Amino acid sequence: MTFRSLEQAGDLTGKRALVRVDFNVPMDEGRITDDTRLRAALPTIHFLSSKGAKVVLLAHFDRPKGKRVPEMSLKPVVQPLSRLLEQDVIWADDCIGPDAARAIDGMENGGVALLENLRFHAGEEKNDPTFADELAKLGDLYVDDAFSASHRAHASTEAIAQRLPAYPGLSMERELEALEAALGNPQRPVLGIVGGSKVSTKLDLLKNLVTKLDKLAIGGGMANTFLYAQGHDVGASYCEKDMAETAREIVRLAGQNNCKLFLPLDIVVAEKMAPGAPARTRGLGEVDEHERILDAGPETAARLKRAMDNSKTLIWNGPLGVFEMPPFDKATVEAAQYAAELCKAGKIVAVAGGGDTVAALHHANVASDFTFVSTAGGAFLEWMEGKALPGVEALKV
Ligand code: 3PG
Repeated sequence: MTFRSLEQAGDLTGKRALVRVDFNVPMDEGRITDDTRLRAALPTIHFLSSKGAKVVLLAHFDRPKGKRVPEMSLKPVVQPLSRLLEQDVIWADDCIGPDAARAIDGMENGGVALLENLRFHAGEEKNDPTFADELAKLGDLYVDDAFSASHRAHASTEAIAQRLPAYPGLSMERELEALEAALGNPQRPVLGIVGGSKVSTKLDLLKNLVTKLDKLAIGGGMANTFLYAQGHDVGASYCEKDMAETAREIVRLAGQNNCKLFLPLDIVVAEKMAPGAPARTRGLGEVDEHERILDAGPETAARLKRAMDNSKTLIWNGPLGVFEMPPFDKATVEAAQYAAELCKAGKIVAVAGGGDTVAALHHANVASDFTFVSTAGGAFLEWMEGKALPGVEALKV
């Protein structure tokens, strides 16, 4: 993979840099409840601004489907972003046309502007060439710092990159490096942990991983489907019985590709899925008909830790149990904390991603100890599925 580097972009004084960021942040009544994605854009903004560029931020928010929806305006981002940057952020009521041009014309070198939601125009999601031309007119160079939107072939992530010199932003660069170190060209052996509830939503991901990894541990609700497929009684547990044949196919595929598959050795069950519900550890095949499997058991966690000891790289997506409801967070927390220790000791490269995973690592208090934690949702999953990401492809030279 070859990309241009922003560091080598030459003299940026007075240049208009169109920077695609992902400000699709959680919002409650116009207030941002988690500003991680704003913070992620700061290094690139600071870099460009310090070089005297005019930094013009392009972003989407929610899914207005090509119409102006006032509740989906990006305006509530202006103040929090100004505070984080410690500088004024100029606002433009539209992302193309006279409003956008006027705002940019009035900018000083080093200034920062945010344009209104790209998705207010239908051309954005259609990757429309005319809309991309309108956007490109506003800049001298294009910087994509939105890995989490790179699975979308939209005008601001794909077509625009064909129209201007295109660079990955600093966060995008970091993300691509981390992903390359985890799956592209990793130090072996590589261990994967995939959890979460459904096999059906992670089929492509599992099928790709068993061809790339040396070892794969399956946890969470989806492990129940694998256990069921192998003839174990799963009681009243969540289980996609119609996916049993698919689960067996994945087991076969793992065998053909020399990927060692780890299914639970023991499990933690309860009669109710509720915080603090009385929990019991069971061996496989010991689940009563009223019981539900809600976590991996201690033997499973111990084997996972041994597998980490014998690995150089760990890639993790999805919790091992219902971590939101202690005591069913035990296996996830234990495994996460152990991985974090190995990471701090320089013994393993640990990369994790996907919505629930990030929340689980925060719950275990170890998110900052991992080598890299991706806040991308869909883009991280598609990357794990081995799919080409249009927004990343478009940056290659
Ligand atoms: C995300 O939040 O994952 C990205 O911003 C992409 O949003 P989308 O799923 O609406 O395209």
